[in-house]
Amino acid sequence: MRLAVSSQTAPPLSAAKINPKRALKTLKSCLETERGVEFETGDSFFRRESSVGRDLGVLSASLQSPLRLLDAMCGCGVRSLRYLSQAGAAFVWANDANEDHGDLIASNLSRAGVDAGTGRRRWVVTSSDANRVLVESYLKREFFDFIDVDSFGSDSTFLRSAINALRIGGLLYVTSTDGYSSGGHRPQHSLASYGAYVRPMPYSNEVGLRMLIGGVVREASALGFHVVPLFSYYSYHGPIFRVMLRLNRGKLSENSYYGFITYCTRCGNSHAYSWDNLGQISCPCSGGMVSRSVIVSGPLWTGPLHDGAYVGEMLELAKQWGWACTGSKGTDLDKLLNQLIDESDPALPFGYIKLDEVSSRAKVNSPPLASMIDAIRKEGYAVSRSHIANNAIKTNCPMSVCIETARELQRVVNSENVLV
Ligand SMILES: C[S@@+](CC[C@H](N)C(=O)[O-])C[C@H]1O[C@@H](n2cnc3c(N)ncnc32)[C@H](O)[C@@H]1O
Ligand SMILES: [Zn+2]
Repeated sequence: MRLAVSSQTAPPLSAAKINPKRALKTLKSCLETERGVEFETGDSFFRRESSVGRDLGVLSASLQSPLRLLDAMCGCGVRSLRYLSQAGAAFVWANDANEDHGDLIASNLSRAGVDAGTGRRRWVVTSSDANRVLVESYLKREFFDFIDVDSFGSDSTFLRSAINALRIGGLLYVTSTDGYSSGGHRPQHSLASYGAYVRPMPYSNEVGLRMLIGGVVREASALGFHVVPLFSYYSYHGPIFRVMLRLNRGKLSENSYYGFITYCTRCGNSHAYSWDNLGQISCPCSGGMVSRSVIVSGPLWTGPLHDGAYVGEMLELAKQWGWACTGSKGTDLDKLLNQLIDESDPALPFGYIKLDEVSSRAKVNSPPLASMIDAIRKEGYAVSRSHIANNAIKTNCPMSVCIETARELQRVVNSENVLV
């Protein structure tokens, strides 16, 4: 049975060697504030632009109880500090392989205060390889309720050990920053990392999220578990692909969303194929014949990127905390989370259609996004914006209808110009 252990049984490891007071004196001063929390960054890897990913992690962690958390690649420890002081974590294990940052992390975490009941601190700091912390925790059967792995590139070597170290029902927050692989420029690389042969597709940044989820699905399945994405977030800063998944008991079901996707360069339509239908991959525009116009990627996650109800809970929390509307500066969480909720409509398929592609196929000017969405909805199709691409729509409307709609919108504009 997988049980989370209390903070008292967690080994202090190198925390004993780390002296927050000394660190405060020797650090070069680089004080940052994020959502009201102050911390030093020293010369650790820190990106202000990643604050949205941290906000989403904190909101999600706040919905998780109990909360014994591992921040496996913590940088300066900003996430760990926020998980302690904002998400109310009972215990945070902050780890980063860079030994030089141990004092900096400890100094930052000492800002979180101590446990009100015991008077003890609720954190430890270690300077180990993330896999070592994960594997040792698993071997000791000390499972976490939440594991954040903020890795670089498409390093997937932590996925299996992270799943092993997670309690069933726990949350895994994983990262990829590999835009080359999601863009289909390194299919052998994505195959090695996530088991997905990814080719260039117009919605490559969504493919990046699906590739990452698919990789976790595969690793969980090998261990006899399955995972579901609670939210998926792409940011062009980096780029960063971040996914929050819940670990569930039991293997992947036969009709799960783990399969192949196709994009046809000739007609612009996309389709999903299950493993059973692999031999039937073709596009209706080629009369069912094998065609070079069909690009295939997979296996990867073909299902919903988010759980709409869960994201709704995150939004409620963001509103309560005054984080939802930040005005003109930074990403507006209200807008982002509402977009994720819209994208989670089960009628919407994978991918998105860029309006530039529609206008180029229709040979008209790019139609205004809002008018296009209204017109497609009136035709009875499901449609939403995409948080990934500004001028794109997610829809189950075929490309041919999108093209006709764009032409109709252009005709209306032309006739209005004539009247003027
Ligand atoms: C993207 S940065 C972390 C940023 C931090 N989570 C934040 O939000 O500011 C990745 C960190 O992983 C650390 N790192 C790289 N390889 C590691 C490994 N194998 N195990 C543990 N930490 C590692 C690096 O030292 C770096 O600080
Ligand atoms: Zn086609």
